[in-house]
Parts: sequence; structure tokens; C-alpha cells
Amino acid sequence: MRMHVRRQLSFWVVVSFSAVFAAPRPHVVFILADDFGWYDVGYHGSEIKTPNLDRLSAKGVRLENYYVQPLCTPSRNQLMTGRYQIHTGMQHQIIWPCQPYCVPLDEKLLPELMREAGYATHMVGKWHLGMYKKDCLPTRRGFDSFFGYLTGSEDYFTHVRCSPVPPGNLTRCALDLRDGEEVATAYNGSYSTELLSQKASNIIRKHNSNKPLFMYVAMQAVHDPLQVPERYVAPYSFIKDPHRRRYAGMVSAMDEAVGNITAALQQNGLWNNTVLIFSTDNGGQTLSGGSNWPLRGRKWSLWEGGVRGVGFVTGPLLKRPGSVSRELIHISDWLPTLVGLAGGSANGTKPLDGFNVWNTISKGFASPRLELLHNIDPMYVDIAPCPGQLQRVAVRGHSKVESRFNVSTHAAIRFSNWKLLTGYPGCDVWFPRPGSDTTTTTSSSKLQPLKPVMLFDMEKDPEERSEVSDQFPAVVDYLLGRLERYQRTALPIKFPDGDPTCDPGPEGAWGPWA
Ligand SMILES: *[C@@H]1O[C@H](CO)[C@@H](O)[C@H](O)[C@H]1NC(C)=O
Ligand SMILES: *[C@@H]1O[C@H](CO)[C@@H](O)[C@H](O)[C@H]1NC(C)=O
Ligand SMILES: *[C@@H]1O[C@H](CO)[C@@H](O)[C@H](O)[C@H]1NC(C)=O
Ligand SMILES: *[C@@H]1O[C@H](CO)[C@@H](O)[C@H](O)[C@H]1NC(C)=O
Ligand SMILES: *[C@@H]1O[C@H](CO)[C@@H](O)[C@H](O)[C@H]1NC(C)=O
Ligand SMILES: *[C@@H]1O[C@H](CO)[C@@H](O)[C@H](O)[C@H]1NC(C)=O
Repeated sequence: MRMHVRRQLSFWVVVSFSAVFAAPRPHVVFILADDFGWYDVGYHGSEIKTPNLDRLSAKGVRLENYYVQPLCTPSRNQLMTGRYQIHTGMQHQIIWPCQPYCVPLDEKLLPELMREAGYATHMVGKWHLGMYKKDCLPTRRGFDSFFGYLTGSEDYFTHVRCSPVPPGNLTRCALDLRDGEEVATAYNGSYSTELLSQKASNIIRKHNSNKPLFMYVAMQAVHDPLQVPERYVAPYSFIKDPHRRRYAGMVSAMDEAVGNITAALQQNGLWNNTVLIFSTDNGGQTLSGGSNWPLRGRKWSLWEGGVRGVGFVTGPLLKRPGSVSRELIHISDWLPTLVGLAGGSANGTKPLDGFNVWNTISKGFASPRLELLHNIDPMYVDIAPCPGQLQRVAVRGHSKVESRFNVSTHAAIRFSNWKLLTGYPGCDVWFPRPGSDTTTTTSSSKLQPLKPVMLFDMEKDPEERSEVSDQFPAVVDYLLGRLERYQRTALPIKFPDGDPTCDPGPEGAWGPWA
């Protein structure tokens, strides 16, 4: 009798086990846009037209409470590791071309895990996670193939990046484009947004659909410089601000690129089994045409304009097409989510800060994430000009709050509806809606001085207009305690001086030198 029960039990275990494995694992395509702001997508009401993003997201799930990091390298770092910046020593800034460091080599990255789960892994676009030695390159960190940029801020046509080289800090302009580990010299004049979408489509065309595909497309668009073929700008003659107008053209090109990649998936029979994720890497840069209206701040800041991201998931496999998710989701959640979708295992990673949010996205379950550490960066400086910044920061008083966490430190944390910020969060202006009469919006001189500790209720006040730390001292206490605990787990900041041997010379290309 006992034997019988056990045999029956194992029979069912075997059946359900093989049923899981018989289901084809989905292809996963992750498209990351660069510096794409909250108000730059059509479905947020933008004057910029994004028909492909609107259509794809309307058939999928729009993530409207979705967070990214305020800068390129940090967001990519968390996407690839599933871990907060404080846990990789990369809590400060981006990697500059001559800095000899990369995402620590003992971190196991998302493409390695996808590869272990049986996926073909390809990357097209901008890496920006370090390249001073060959072990740091995408091809050595889990990608079967790579085509793109190792750093950032290249020219869209020549693919040249200019950057100061130590010790004299003379500006060196050199090519930054690789095919695998080789310098790619044959693409001068080819507009990056078209080039990258073509390369991605080629991978799709060559892919054997029996093998699951993981493709990471990290667009150069819509980061500055503001460069775009005229035909994309033509529909925007109604936009008066020349930066915004060019930027709008760049967004249109990127939208077309996403449409082309999706069409390639359809034409090659992959689409019916694809999960496509679209995400920005950080908020828009208002100095270069981007807009996060009505959110406060911009790229580089811990205000919502820096960290609340445009994102959606789409594809025929989603159970609730046409829905909007207001559950808390963060860019560090993709690693456990995608590895889970791939039927893989996160074995070999260090302790993850991300959560598997697949049931939240596909079934509408509550998010397993209640808390989100935006960042803690004791070395923070905002290098870009911010209207009225000096007078508001200068008048900051001492904090009345007693805490073991140093409240002069640039930091922010979210718990449920609460967001607490300490130190200088970065440019704090509400930039006006593009095209609006700027005299009717809050002028920067009318802004309240910043306080060392600020609390906002994100549900009632997503624009961070009403600071409520005095009304909720217990919440402030609790969140400062959480920051203090996080800070105790932080690695020392890694932000080395530039290495003079990085210089590729006038004829060379940026790349590994060590
Ligand atoms: C070069 O730039 C670095 C980093 O900004 C700075 O610390 C250093 O003083 C500069 N060197 C010279 C010679 O200007
Ligand atoms: C790219 O082509 C332009 C125009 O032909 C030329 O002036 C420039 O030097 C080229 N740049 C590179 C990096 O090859
Ligand atoms: C999209 O595909 C069309 C047709 O092949 C092509 O003309 C266009 O340049 C592509 N756009 C982008 C951004 O890749
Ligand atoms: C997708 O389409 C292919 C070819 O048309 C078919 O063989 C496969 O079963 C489909 N997969 C799914 C999940 O519907
Ligand atoms: C995890 O990985 C290690 C080494 O890569 C291996 O020995 C171990 O069996 C794996 N564990 C699981 C649960 O897969
Ligand atoms: C607190 O942080 C600020 C800014 O990071 C720093 O200048 C100051 O020395 C710190 N104070 C203490 C007591 O560590």
C-alpha cells in the first residue's frame, strides 16, 4: 500500500516535471534605451510620436511604478548583476574611458546564467561596464557575440568617442566600435540607431528557433550628442526648441528601430514565443532635449525624474495583455525574473537584491518587493548646471533628526508609498512641460530650500512637492535605520584615477589596455 502510494506520487512528479520542460522556453529580447525620459514616450502624452512603443506596450503590460538608476553604468550594472550598486563598489558615477575597473569579475552576470540555462546569448549596443582588460569585455562575461560600444557618448555617425586622457587631460578622440573583440572600422557614416537595429535583426534572421535566444539590445539612442538624419526630424517642425526638435527625431528613429526588431522576430517565426522587455536606463537629460515632466529633477538625481523609468513587457505569452502594472518593480529585478523565465538557476551569484517579479507582471500579483534602495553615494557631486542650485543648497540648515546615518550623504530609499532622501539629491527643479510657457511654471527662485532629510508620500505626491518629514517622524526614523543598515553592507567605493596607458593614440580605438 505504502509502496503503491509512493509510486503514484513519483509518477505525478515525473509527469509534471516533464510537462514543465516540454514547454518551449521563451526567447527573451531586452531593449534598453539610453536617457529616455518619462515624458518622451507617446503613451505618457508626449508631443513626440512613438507609434511602435505605444502599440507594443498597449498589447503588453506597461510598468508605471518601475525604477531604474539615475545613470548609465549603475543601471546596466544592476541589470547584469541583480544587485544594488553599494554591493559591487560601484555606487559612485559612471566608468570613464581611462578608469581601470569594471563590474567585479567575481560577479556572475545575467548572460552567463542564461547561457547555463541553454540560451544563445547575444549583445548589440552599448556596454559601459568596464573594458580596461579583456576579462571585462561582454564576450568574456557571458555573451556569445557582441557588436557595439564599450564606453558611451560616441558620435552617432563616426562612432568616435572623445575623452580626456591623463595625466595632462588632453582630449583624445578615438573610435569606439567593436565586432566581438575586434575593432569595427567599416561603419563610418552609418547612423547608430539604424546600424544597431540592423545588427539585431541579422542575429534574429540567423537564429535557429529551436534554441532559446537571449538578446540584449542596448541602444545608443537617445543619449546626446543630438544627431539624427533629417528625415526623422521633418515631422517635428512644430517644436520650437531646436534641442527638443532634434531629440524628437532621435526618439522617432529609436521607435522605428524597435519596430524593425519586432518585425524581424515576427518574420522569422520567433515572435509567438518571445518575451520582449523595453526599458530606459535612467531619466531624461533636460540639458539635451529630454523631459521627465511632470516629475521633479532629471538624470543624475535621485528625484523621480532621475529614477522613475519608462518600461513595459510585451509579447503573445503575456496573460493580461493591455494592462498597466502599478506594482513596485526595479531594474535589479530582471535578473531573477528572466533567469526564472528561462527555467535556469541563479546559482553562483552573490546575494541578490532583485526579486522575481514575473507573476506580478504576467498575472497581476502583488510585487514581492516592498522596499527599494535607490542609492547611497557619499562622494556624489552634480557636475551639470542646475537653475538656482547654489542658493538653495547654501541655505540648508542642520538636521534636527538624530540618526546614526550621516544625513549629509546623498541617499534615497523607498518603502511602500514612502520615499526618504538625505543629502543633496541632485538637481531639484521641476522642469516645465516642453513647449509650455515657462513663465507660468514654478520658477527656480521660488523653490523651498532643501532639507538634509526629506520625506514624500509617493502615492499622494508623485511629483515630490509636499515634504512631510515633520508629520511622520516614526517613518523617518525607520527609513534612516534602514539606510544605516544598508550602508553597513556597502563595499568601499571603487572609482580609480585614470590610467595614462589607456590612450589609444590618434589612429587607435578605445579598448582593453591592461
Ligand atoms: C585631470 O582630471 C582629473 C579628474 O578630473 C583631475 O583630478 C586632475 O587634476 C586633472 N589633471 C590636470 C593636469 O588637469
Ligand atoms: C569618417 O568619414 C568622414 C567623412 O568621410 C571623415 O572625415 C572621418 O575622418 C572619418 N572618421 C573615421 C573615424 O574614420
Ligand atoms: C527600419 O527598416 C526600414 C526598412 O528596412 C529601413 O529603411 C529603416 O532604416 C529601418 N530603421 C531603423 C531605425 O533601423
Ligand atoms: C510558434 O510558431 C511555430 C511555427 O509557426 C510553431 O511551431 C510553435 O508551436 C509556435 N509556438 C507557440 C508557443 O505557439
Ligand atoms: C551550483 O554550482 C556549483 C558550481 O558551479 C555546483 O557544484 C552545484 O552543484 C550547483 N548547485 C545547484 C543547486 O545547481
Ligand atoms: C558626512 O557626510 C559628508 C558628505 O558625504 C561628509 O563630508 C562628512 O565628513 C560626513 N560626516 C561624518 C561625521 O562622517
